Amino acid sequence: MAKLTVKDLDVQGKRVFVRVDFNVPMEEKDGQMVINDTTRIKETLPTLRLLIEKGARVILAAHLGRPKGTREPSMSLRPVADKLGEMLGCKVQFANDCIGKDAEEKANSLKPGEVLLLENVRYHDKEELNCPIFSEDLARLADVYVNDAFGAAHRAHASTEGIAQIIKKRGGKCAAGLLMERELKFLGDELNAPARPFVVILGGAKVSDKIKVIDALLEKADTILIGGAMAYTFKLALGLKVGKSLVEPDMVDVAKAALEKAKAKKVQFLIPTDNIVATPVKTDKLNKKGKPVIEMQNPRTNSDANIPDAEEGVDIGPETSKRFAEVIQGAKTILWNGPMGIFEDPRFAEGTFKVATAVVDATQKNGAKSIIGGGDSVKALNKAKLGDKVTFMSTGGGASLEFLEGAVLPGVAALSDK
Ligand code: 3PG
Ligand code: MG
Repeated sequence: MAKLTVKDLDVQGKRVFVRVDFNVPMEEKDGQMVINDTTRIKETLPTLRLLIEKGARVILAAHLGRPKGTREPSMSLRPVADKLGEMLGCKVQFANDCIGKDAEEKANSLKPGEVLLLENVRYHDKEELNCPIFSEDLARLADVYVNDAFGAAHRAHASTEGIAQIIKKRGGKCAAGLLMERELKFLGDELNAPARPFVVILGGAKVSDKIKVIDALLEKADTILIGGAMAYTFKLALGLKVGKSLVEPDMVDVAKAALEKAKAKKVQFLIPTDNIVATPVKTDKLNKKGKPVIEMQNPRTNSDANIPDAEEGVDIGPETSKRFAEVIQGAKTILWNGPMGIFEDPRFAEGTFKVATAVVDATQKNGAKSIIGGGDSVKALNKAKLGDKVTFMSTGGGASLEFLEGAVLPGVAALSDK
């Protein structure tokens, strides 16, 4: 990697300010916030253990949710300090604010190998504004800067970007953490020089969310498989009927252009030839937003590429999953981002599950490298208990997408060159 990494640093006795992505899903249970999924915490442990071993005084900073400059109690990182302590097997101290006298005193009195977690940086609106004064306040806690927050590296915020500029200006070092390094290796280097065939599986709701990724991957992939609601916009582009399926009519021309580009680049581009469909029916029940709950009734397999007027596509059909699985089985490199259907509903999870199984088989039996680009596909794999059977699962959502689009991530760009 062209950037300095934590392995290159001498940190003995130094205050190392580590930006992590501890933006973990939480839920209130009996008046307390409980962490639902600790993956993002677990994935930072190698970096933290290495720093502890090297005698660093570790100061951790993170955001949780989007409190927009208010001290929203449900978005406090305090429960994360306790959980991290359990996982690291040592005490993790906590500072009620990420800047100021208390944070500075706690950071300054850390002994080598001790760990301090700072409260949510987004309790200050100056964080997202990347305010230089706030960045200076953060930098007062640090001799060295490490960014292991790949999931937040697409944000040019004070704790991901501003602080690094200040530390570099002082002659201090700014390095990538081990998780950051792994993310960049798998989503970057491995996909830039993939073993072939390179098969990309894309799903999710919107073409507009993924079009830049599709465009970038059309330059690299041998085959692109499209599922999820996004596929219905592609169906429209091909002149097919989509019934009541979720579509983006204003993205039809963009979808057409992608199909043209695929043809020109000789990239095999497959969209579903059959679907699971259901009839959406308005009920008397109201959802949280006060809108009528729509129930999906009478699910069935629709073996035609056209979807009847009264029905909505909710998953890829059995013929499509079989075809997708065959293609995946032949792959040497696989990138998967986005579910094939509404997998949260068990009736519509089959297509996503079959794709997950095919990805795992290709990895385990054929030695394919499988890279999961974060977000819902990671959720789906974990739900199927297959998360440890793929080569790499990204901890990023938006960051993975932006990186796959080919964007320069501000949190990476700010680090010191080797
Ligand atoms: C995420 O969960 O995607 C990252 O932590 C970034 O969070 P954000 O989208 O609120 O910036
Ligand atoms: Mg996000």
